Amino acid sequence: MSKAKTILVTGCGGQLGSELRILSSTYPQYRFVFFNSQEFPLGDAQFARQKFEEQQPQYFINCAAYTAVDKAESEKEQAMLVNGEAVGQLATLCSEFNTGFIHISTDYVFNGESQSPWKTEQPTDPVNFYGSSKLRGEELAFANNDRSIVIRTSWVYSSFGKNFVKTMIRLMGEKESIGVVNDQHGSPTYAADLASAIMQIIDSGKWQAGTYHYSNSGAITWFEFAAAIAKKIKSNCVVNPILSSQFPTPAKRPSYSVMDLSKIESVYGIAIPRWEEALDRCLLKLQEDQTS
Ligand SMILES: NC(=O)c1ccc[n+]([C@@H]2O[C@H](COP(=O)([O-])OP(=O)(O)OC[C@H]3O[C@@H](n4cnc5c(N)ncnc54)[C@H](OP(=O)(O)O)[C@@H]3O)[C@@H](O)[C@H]2O)c1
Repeated sequence: MSKAKTILVTGCGGQLGSELRILSSTYPQYRFVFFNSQEFPLGDAQFARQKFEEQQPQYFINCAAYTAVDKAESEKEQAMLVNGEAVGQLATLCSEFNTGFIHISTDYVFNGESQSPWKTEQPTDPVNFYGSSKLRGEELAFANNDRSIVIRTSWVYSSFGKNFVKTMIRLMGEKESIGVVNDQHGSPTYAADLASAIMQIIDSGKWQAGTYHYSNSGAITWFEFAAAIAKKIKSNCVVNPILSSQFPTPAKRPSYSVMDLSKIESVYGIAIPRWEEALDRCLLKLQEDQTS
């Protein structure tokens, strides 16, 4: 019998990492090794090398990232270390150990000035520091390893961790009305679906390096997303559309970050669920978690 292939996963305490952990039970043919931020702190190249030597992985999925978009404006050094330099170190190690490197990036590498979905090859131009740090990570992933796969995703939510869906449900339980921005357009991503797409790539046995886009399908605004959540959970809270200028944040957000998903569909044959259907599944999971 051939030995099970080893998949290392960093950031397993986060949304995507948690979903991959759940999904791993349906892939018994692989040996998964999950690391949280203490067990595999990003940025320490020597430490990372030691882990590669110990585990000899065939695949490495980097779910760890500095994801605090607003805080990144004032913690630039840490954001750049985790999202930029550390990714370069991992890419180098993956090249050296012949490990398939899958790294996750963001729609925030684009400037938002488009009226049609962003294609993978379109020029990047981040409007905030988080986006710049993630772009640096992409650049180093390919500069240090021409076999890297980078998957850009957007508006990630899950039953795990902190996210828009969970925040809206909480606010809708506390307030009679809320204002949600209606001039930022994008596509939500259920982290469980992204985890599934990643495993489909690995399990396809085909490795086509490059940049891919993955989100759920359909383009909406945050207001539309919140209104759908209110309707689905039958909340009486009134959701009002507001402008981004009425909700100032330290980091600027792109006004249009919908991504073209056709490359991942055509190269890997991945079927992409609609955002409404994905939201239903997450809400059901949240309900189940509450009653269990
Ligand atoms: N969330 C979104 O809306 C969104 C949108 C576009 C792209 N993305 C990208 O998608 C990927 C997954 O995001 P996510 O939503 O799953 O993020 P998340 O829930 O914030 O999880 C990120 C994980 O990274 C870990 N981490 C942070 N700093 C670290 C460090 N220095 N060393 C090791 N681990 C560290 C965190 O651990 P601690 O909690 O212990 O700090 C956390 O478990 C990321 O690459 C992110 O940039 C996310």
